Amino acid sequence: MQKMNIPGPKAKKILEQDSKYVSPSYPRAHPLVMSHGKGSEVWDVDGNRFLDFASGIAVVGTGHAHPKVVKAIQNQAEKFLHISSDFYHSAWADLSQRLSEIAPFSEEAGVFLSNSGAECVEAAVKLARHHTGRSQFIAFLGAFHGRTMGALSFTASKSIYRSGFFPSMPGVYHAPYPDTYRPLLASRPGEDYGETVVRYIEEEILGRLVPPEDVAGVLVEPVQGEGGYVVPPLGFFPALRDLCDRHGILLIDDEVQAGMGRTGKMWAIEHFGVEPDIVTSAKGIASGVPLGATIARKSMLTWPEGAHGNTYGGNPLACVSALATIDLLQEEFIQNAAEVGEYTKDALEEIQARHKSMGQVRGLGLMIGVDFVKDPATRKPDKTFRDRVEEHCFEHGLVTLGCGKSTVRFAPPLSISKAEIDEGLQIFEHAISLTEKE
Ligand SMILES: Cc1ncc(COP(=O)(O)O)c(C=O)c1O
Repeated sequence: MQKMNIPGPKAKKILEQDSKYVSPSYPRAHPLVMSHGKGSEVWDVDGNRFLDFASGIAVVGTGHAHPKVVKAIQNQAEKFLHISSDFYHSAWADLSQRLSEIAPFSEEAGVFLSNSGAECVEAAVKLARHHTGRSQFIAFLGAFHGRTMGALSFTASKSIYRSGFFPSMPGVYHAPYPDTYRPLLASRPGEDYGETVVRYIEEEILGRLVPPEDVAGVLVEPVQGEGGYVVPPLGFFPALRDLCDRHGILLIDDEVQAGMGRTGKMWAIEHFGVEPDIVTSAKGIASGVPLGATIARKSMLTWPEGAHGNTYGGNPLACVSALATIDLLQEEFIQNAAEVGEYTKDALEEIQARHKSMGQVRGLGLMIGVDFVKDPATRKPDKTFRDRVEEHCFEHGLVTLGCGKSTVRFAPPLSISKAEIDEGLQIFEHAISLTEKE
């Protein structure tokens, strides 16, 4: 397998320019300077070709530059680019109706549009406070909800995100996320670990720290993303829904990474048989055009005119891109994510049998994590090994991103073929073998 010489001369020039003028705060994964992309393939400015198993952090679900998405944006761009949320247009109304129709509630839904994941989380948090008249929240260790001051107070995946930014928003209490591979709590005999976590929330957080009648909402990822692609056990969400119902607490489901078909269903929460009260969506919603959506039960949208708004909400390019994206997801790509996801997980488990550095393969649909360990018995995370695997993958033409302490995430476009998965997994196994020899 051929190792590529990256970055090439053209990329080097741009990296130099970038390092002079772009904020150094961005965490950069690889020196990939993109020229163009098509489906699951990406080319850099020196003509190197890569398979993309990261999709711009789980964003381009329909693949790079899907012709139907591009056409929708081009058509809209010729008419108008912006009018602001002070006015109206049909694509905004159409998208809000569409999102209401696909929302995972039996009751009617209403939609607030913004420009990013963090912003749609901010809107959800503000709406929960406004609607309940309560101020406190529960979130989870390992969570990622964004980096704006409100969202950051819920994010608990790495302390670097908070370093230098205190004080954060008060009133957010973190419970362990139900990670059955590395549980922090002890279950009672016969208890599902998800139920254990909910019992911890009820007995320790609500019992000792904050009375339930002061809690507005629980903000939770249906599959933890940046925290390591962790899938909760089946008992978790029903127990959490029950706890919320008993105390009048809102269940806020952050689907920014796991939603829009990524797990093989439109919404990841659909795997767990419960209905949330608010859903947040971004990333995969508009195939790369910035868009965030906060979707709530209609009965909760009790805030009055002026309570929340923005300049770009309902941006027409984002709306038409999202409409084309949802069509493609429903026509074929959600189904493809479910099928190719199963195929990928099976293939990864075969690879795992040959490499004891691979501690766990986990995930739903095309949201799959491979956790690298120092020793399968202790399950101690091996970050250095994971980082080297990623570097080798990149040098051999496969783009991946890490998450959690020692996990490589597989989040390719939902349009990816089995042949492309095979090609990527060959590189992945080669990268593991090279790392093992080091
Ligand atoms: C679950 C979740 N929520 C919120 C965010 C924040 O999104 P953004 O980076 O668009 O602000 C992310 C980003 O990774 C996410 O994964």
